[in-house]
Amino acid sequence: MIPIANPIIEDEEIQEVVEVLKSGFIAQGPKVAEFEEKFAEYVGTKYAVATSSGTTALHIALLAAGVGEGDEVITTPFSFAATGNAALYVNAKPVFVDIDPDTYNLDPSLIEAAITPKTRAIMPVHLYGQAADMGSIMEIARKHDLTVIEDAAQAHGAMYKDKKAGSLGDMACFSFYPTKNMTTSEGGIITTNNKEFADNCRIIRAHGEKERYKHVVLGYNFRMTDIAAAIGIAQLKKLDKFNKKRIENAEYLTEHIKEIEGIKPPYVSPDVQHVFHQYTIRVENGSRDQWIAFLNENGVGTGIHYPIPIYKQELYQSLGYSDECVESEKAANEVISLPVHPRLNVDDLEKIVQTLEDASRNFL
Ligand SMILES: Cc1ncc(COP(=O)(O)O)c(C=O)c1O
Repeated sequence: MIPIANPIIEDEEIQEVVEVLKSGFIAQGPKVAEFEEKFAEYVGTKYAVATSSGTTALHIALLAAGVGEGDEVITTPFSFAATGNAALYVNAKPVFVDIDPDTYNLDPSLIEAAITPKTRAIMPVHLYGQAADMGSIMEIARKHDLTVIEDAAQAHGAMYKDKKAGSLGDMACFSFYPTKNMTTSEGGIITTNNKEFADNCRIIRAHGEKERYKHVVLGYNFRMTDIAAAIGIAQLKKLDKFNKKRIENAEYLTEHIKEIEGIKPPYVSPDVQHVFHQYTIRVENGSRDQWIAFLNENGVGTGIHYPIPIYKQELYQSLGYSDECVESEKAANEVISLPVHPRLNVDDLEKIVQTLEDASRNFL
């Protein structure tokens, strides 16, 4: 089976981790500081604050921006549940706005209608590695005095116009979970150009301590370890190479599958450099199970990102959500992610194309 994700951990990462284990600094220490500096430089922000996961990065960023009880956070329902859950952690209300059916990202033309006096923040997701329409989103946010927190969990190295994802909003949160474009095992990071936000994030990350044993706010233990940061430093050096391979794989797939009946390759906006965390095709409503069964039976791994809009999750239904975002629901029924990771070789790519051709011939 060609797996849908396959992290690349090489001798360099292993060596870096061994060095950390021998150094005695195995919790947050100098490697975390070095990783933060290098990641901020890569993204093009002044500050970066490393965390224990992408989810804790989102949680911290919302707290650092002062979002809390009674506030509303506008976001997309077509994402991993952590995006919505982060707002719930801080006792705010996630307000779901539908997506653009081509990019699968927040549709900016629908945002203003969702703004109320309670709205404090917008949290766009750069889904699958394609930056959201940040020009329009920032314009709306500035007009209504809202904080923008990018959920860049899937967008390491992605570009919007001439800027990197993670440098476009007021703060941004990345995940380094093993399936992502680069990993630290578990891990996350917040990037920002705002010193006050960065300082707040550091305090909240470590028990609300401003100085040792002086707790100024309710904080958490959301720190990254030096073991994870050492993996991150090695991975960051290879990120551009990994992304280049993902983009080449995606271009190959699109070139070879665009004529196949019954499937639609991903759309890439002219404003972005898509880094293909996922390569996600669309099939006609009602046919997805059949496509997936055929692909899996013939050795091609698949994923569904994501099968249920966040507001339709049992948790959100129990909270009283009754939204109906038409495009998100349609996408949730029609998307299939195919392998695109940098470990694929030409044989794998040919097999994915061939299997899709066979599937199309077999049951369309
Ligand atoms: C869009 C999105 N947001 C948030 C997260 C949460 O990141 P983590 O798994 O590192 O907590 C993920 C990844 O899993 C994600 O894909």
